[in-house]
Amino acid sequence: MKLPRQEEIWLVISVGVLVLSMVITGYQAFALGMTPPSGTETIDPQKVDEHEVFSEPGVYQTGENEYEVVMTLQMFSFTPGDIEIPAGSTVEFIMTSKDLVHGFQIAGTNVNAMVTPGHIQTITETFEEPGEYLVICNEYCGAGHQHMSTTITVK
Ligand code: CUA
Repeated sequence: MKLPRQEEIWLVISVGVLVLSMVITGYQAFALGMTPPSGTETIDPQKVDEHEVFSEPGVYQTGENEYEVVMTLQMFSFTPGDIEIPAGSTVEFIMTSKDLVHGFQIAGTNVNAMVTPGHIQTITETFEEPGEYLVICNEYCGAGHQHMSTTITVK
């Protein structure tokens, strides 16, 4: 079968683009060591309660306007819940799941993370505006999924 000349040219271009993008992705992954941002820190989901960090979930002040929230997510709650922090604080959320995939979304902000068992998820946000921020799970996680919410009060 003889292909028309133009079709041959476009075939070579499209295969070329495909190969080039695979070479670039391969170079980034293997030569530069680029990986997705999450999933680098792992944890045994069966032993979250014995973990050096997650054995004591809570809100910890780490600087003048800096806080750390060590949080576990489980069906169907956030621990700790009903967090209070002063306005102007920068908060690093350090999270893991004890059972299955949950979501961590803070309404009215850009914070939207997936929290998976076996992985440690971190996300940082600065809360300038006082108010009550709704936190919801946005990954379907079972019969009580729609009740999985809490609040962050900034004052
Ligand atoms: Cu947790 Cu949906």
